[in-house]
Amino acid sequence: MFNILIMNILMVCLGNICRSPIAEGVLRRHCQERGLNWRVDSAGTAGYHVGEAPDRRAIACLRSKGIDISGLRARQLTRVDLDEFDLVLVMDQSNLRDVLRLCGTPAQRDKVRLLMDYTDSPGSPVPDPYYGSERDFELVYALCDQACRALAEAYL
Ligand code: 4NP
Repeated sequence: MFNILIMNILMVCLGNICRSPIAEGVLRRHCQERGLNWRVDSAGTAGYHVGEAPDRRAIACLRSKGIDISGLRARQLTRVDLDEFDLVLVMDQSNLRDVLRLCGTPAQRDKVRLLMDYTDSPGSPVPDPYYGSERDFELVYALCDQACRALAEAYL
């Protein structure tokens, strides 16, 4: 019954060039593997990188897992997103504050959750890898994979 439910899921981080495009690519793959016809997108709370492709380290990390995110382009979160999507999944507490500030109604606020709340470590962040190393991008991938698998399996 649940696998005919179409979900609209938005992944949100600060710049929309590292964590949320990785989460988008990973969730897309989990949906494909399970035949879930969900709409998956991503956006940033800030507009610094609008129009840019994901960070080259994010592209390389996902390419090594067989996922291509090179065609994604950064965009900034808008109030319209908070109506159009069923779930708005943020990476850390700072994203959570910024998105909740944009919310105008209780219905919008109810859609906003930390991505890691779907794992055994609720409340944990997906740490910002922007000033980090390739190893930090691998950690982002592993955390996103864990959460997105749990999210997809919750609807099977
Ligand atoms: P993201 O990483 O929020 O995971 O996309 C960042 C990207 C850019 C910046 C910070 C974090 N920045 O300061 O430009």
